[in-house]
Amino acid sequence: MCSAAPPPSRRLPRSPVPTRRDVLKLLAASSVLATATTPALASPAPAPGVLGAPGLPGVHKPLPPELFTLRGTNAETSFAALRSTGALTPVSHFFVRNHTSTPLLDERDWRLTVWGDGLRGQRPFTLTYGQLRSLPAVTRTCVVECAGNGRSFFGSQQGQPATGTAWTLGGIGAARWRGARLSDVLRLAGISGDAVDVMPRGLDAPYVADGVDHGRVRRPLPAAKALDDVILAYEMNGAPLPYDHGFPVRVVVPAWVGIASIKWVGDIEVSTRPLQSLWNTQSYRLFGAAYPPGGSAPITRQTIKSAWELPLGAELAGGRAHRLTGRSWSAAAPVRHVDVSTDGGAHWHRARLTDRPRHGTWTRWSTTWRPKAEGPGHLLARATDTAGNVQPPTTVPNTQGYLFDAVVRHPVRVV
Ligand code: MTE
Repeated sequence: MCSAAPPPSRRLPRSPVPTRRDVLKLLAASSVLATATTPALASPAPAPGVLGAPGLPGVHKPLPPELFTLRGTNAETSFAALRSTGALTPVSHFFVRNHTSTPLLDERDWRLTVWGDGLRGQRPFTLTYGQLRSLPAVTRTCVVECAGNGRSFFGSQQGQPATGTAWTLGGIGAARWRGARLSDVLRLAGISGDAVDVMPRGLDAPYVADGVDHGRVRRPLPAAKALDDVILAYEMNGAPLPYDHGFPVRVVVPAWVGIASIKWVGDIEVSTRPLQSLWNTQSYRLFGAAYPPGGSAPITRQTIKSAWELPLGAELAGGRAHRLTGRSWSAAAPVRHVDVSTDGGAHWHRARLTDRPRHGTWTRWSTTWRPKAEGPGHLLARATDTAGNVQPPTTVPNTQGYLFDAVVRHPVRVV
């Protein structure tokens, strides 16, 4: 779900991908470069005002209540706070989803090890931060969105509560990511034609739930996706990745549920057999009456949504015009149009699009509303994408509340 130019193809990348020989040369040069440029690759600056600022023990950056709602180890972005931001989400506003807590890593110690029986010769391959940065860089503008974004509406809107973090719609952020292609690194490591799965793993602490240690956060990707448009990102919005978003290097998997975009990546297993972890077996599959007893296949692509840049329950003065704003996005294709209703769904009209819709990221929109009658009401926004996907009135429920795509009934009160 990224805007990429040009999109790499698995067999014939359009921009030159170094051969193994090029790489040896490159790496020889980059070990010098890495030393020479270390000061320029400095760790992210400490977040301003960390001392004493509101936050979570496991999250480094400040999490002021006007920007975030804290949910366990996670911080949800307030959609109302996005109104003053542009198409990219500033780091100060970007949601954080941590299974444990943010590790403060040093790029000088960081290594990426690629290993497994899916490598020719099965010899592990290791890169330093400087070496990764000396590979050809690509930039992609795309959202990272939690699979459970919108989960709370299964309960509040459909009467079918789901387990897990009760996100409203702020488990998403859009950024400009810059990094190396995962495909380049896998080819350098000698990925074989027999490889079927590629599993990046984070360097954060092992995840323990109900007394069971599930190990470090990791989730397999099919080799075909790993060789397609995935990047190993070291920059976010033009600066080194912040600690909370994966410093020094994270995976960014366009269009897929956020769990695929492993932060603080330390190693990548390449396997000739399908791989498993908690995150593609018990979690991130669809369970429930509409699904097979063992659950659906592991979920991959995100879905389609819209959100108003207003607090839930916002109060608006009657008798005067309000310019209301929001955002819509779809993992499948660019947004085609957004229909909005200010009377609970009785009448609909087209919102004005602020951005030219692009694949991979959201489209901002606005509408004008002059409320007349005082009292409670609902605002609705419904996106349609260029592939013909339209937000439905309800989402088929699943017990863990993933992939909510229904039109949200946003409560407001006219005063
Ligand atoms: N990677 C590691 N190592 N540990 C994590 O807890 N959380 C995942 C993913 N990558 C996670 C991770 C989930 S569920 C999401 S939605 C995204 O990171 C959130 O990315 P963000 O915190 O940068 O917004």
